This record gives sequence, structure tokens and C-alpha cells, in this order.
Amino acid sequence: MRLVLLGAPGAGKGTQAQRMQVRHGVPQVSTGDLLREAVAAGTPLGRAAKVVMDAGQLVADDIMLGIIRERLARPDAARGFILDGFPRTIAQADGLAGQLVDLGVSLDAVVLLDIDPEILLRRMAGRRSCRRCGRVFHVETNPPRPGDRCTDGGAHDLFQRPDDNEETVRQRLAVYALRTQPLIEYYAKKGMLRRIDANGTLDEVDARLEAVLQQR
Ligand code: AP5
Repeated sequence: MRLVLLGAPGAGKGTQAQRMQVRHGVPQVSTGDLLREAVAAGTPLGRAAKVVMDAGQLVADDIMLGIIRERLARPDAARGFILDGFPRTIAQADGLAGQLVDLGVSLDAVVLLDIDPEILLRRMAGRRSCRRCGRVFHVETNPPRPGDRCTDGGAHDLFQRPDDNEETVRQRLAVYALRTQPLIEYYAKKGMLRRIDANGTLDEVDARLEAVLQQR
């Protein structure tokens, strides 16, 4: 399976990708997570990316394409991948198309997670992530269950992303409308776009996603 999950910040891309990677045995490739790892490691890329991410802007296309080229070349991506948060611009989509040609593979589908704006805001306000394993939770809709352990056997170490504050969220939504929404038409014209209603419970969205992937 080679899939792109497209959707606004907070639409549920990461949550669904984390569930799907377990079911389908292909890795979630989240460019947001890759950038946050670089930030945590304090690399030159991480230091530069932090400024951009904290401002709710996009990291430069050539940097993102370099990150994706390296990630898709790793052995675990040979059987497929779920792209989450990439591509985000037309230039990234064109670059990805070229990389897939080089790899001799193609995308199975691009799935747009369609969601009401006010739900987005609630989802981002309550989002918490585990510092160690990266799993995404929500204080109301998806808290860790009793007995749910992190990868090291302890409790999840939850934190709120610095870009989930009100001002940065507003900026991220504006950037999404300007830079990423044009990809909906881009992939629709290529006949690759499928849409699902991303309002509803985790299990409902999950089921819609699996159903739309069955369509030929
Ligand atoms: P990134 O990390 O990719 O953020 P994003 O695209 O803004 O998406 P989010 O992670 O905010 O949301 P999501 O759709 O994954 O939702 P989630 O599943 O967490 O990027 C961050 C920054 O990095 C960017 O702003 C940019 O600066 C930079 N960057 C990244 N990629 C880049 C690129 N390609 N080019 C340039 N720059 C790039 O869900 C949200 C919450 O809702 C969670 O709490 C979850 O538990 C909850 N939830 C999810 N689904 C449901 C449901 N059905 N019901 C109830 N709650 C739900």
C-alpha cells in the first residue's frame, strides 16, 4: 500500500496513519514527526525547522523533498508507506511524483480527510503526544486507557505540541488553505483523490478509510 493522507491540521491524519500502519504492516511517514525528531536532537535542520514550525509556516520544499527521498529509500518503506503531512505544496507533489518514478512505484490513492473547522480546533486544543513513543492522544476523545503502556513499559509521557497554541493554529490553517488545499484539485485531476468524512469517532473514521480504499 502506498498512500497519501491529505487534510487540514488536526483532521486526524496522524491518528489514522498510526492505526493503519499496524493493520497494513507499512510504516507511517510523518514529515511533522521527522522534523520534531530533528528539533529534539538539536541538529542544524532541527534548529532551523523549529523557528518555521513555531511560526506555523512550512519548511522549504527542497529540504522536505530531501527528507522524503532519504526516508522512502529505507528498507521498511520498500513494501509501502502511509504519507502523513506530505506533500503539502504543488512543488512537493511534483517532486514526490518524480521520486516514485525513480523508485519504480506509484501511489494507490490520495485520501482527503474532510472535517468541520470547529471540530479541528477542539481536536488540536486537546491533543497530547507521548514524548517517547510519539503516539497521539486527546484529553477527551482519546486518552490513554488504564494499563496502556509506552514502548519502554512505563506510562506515556504526554506533552502538548508548542504549535498547538491558538495563534499558531490560526496561522497553520491559513497556510493550509493557501499552500495545501490546491493539492485537492491537483490529485482530483489525476483521478487519484478519494474523500472521506473525518467527523465522527476514531472507529467511524477508521471504517470509512478502509471502505474507501476498497473502491477500485
Ligand atoms: P504536522 O505535524 O504534519 O502537523 P499538521 O499537518 O498540521 O497535522 P497535525 O499533526 O496537526 O494533525 P493530524 O491531522 O495529524 O491530526 P491528529 O491525528 O494529531 O506538521 C507540523 C509542522 O511541521 C507544520 O506546521 C510545518 O511547519 C512542518 N511540516 C510538516 N510537514 C511539512 C511539509 N511536508 N512541508 C513543509 N513543512 C512541513 O489528531 C488531532 C487530535 O484529534 C488528536 O488529539 C487526536 O487524538 C484527535 N482525534 C483524531 N481523530 C479523532 C476522531 N475521529 N475523533 C476524536 N478525536 C480525534
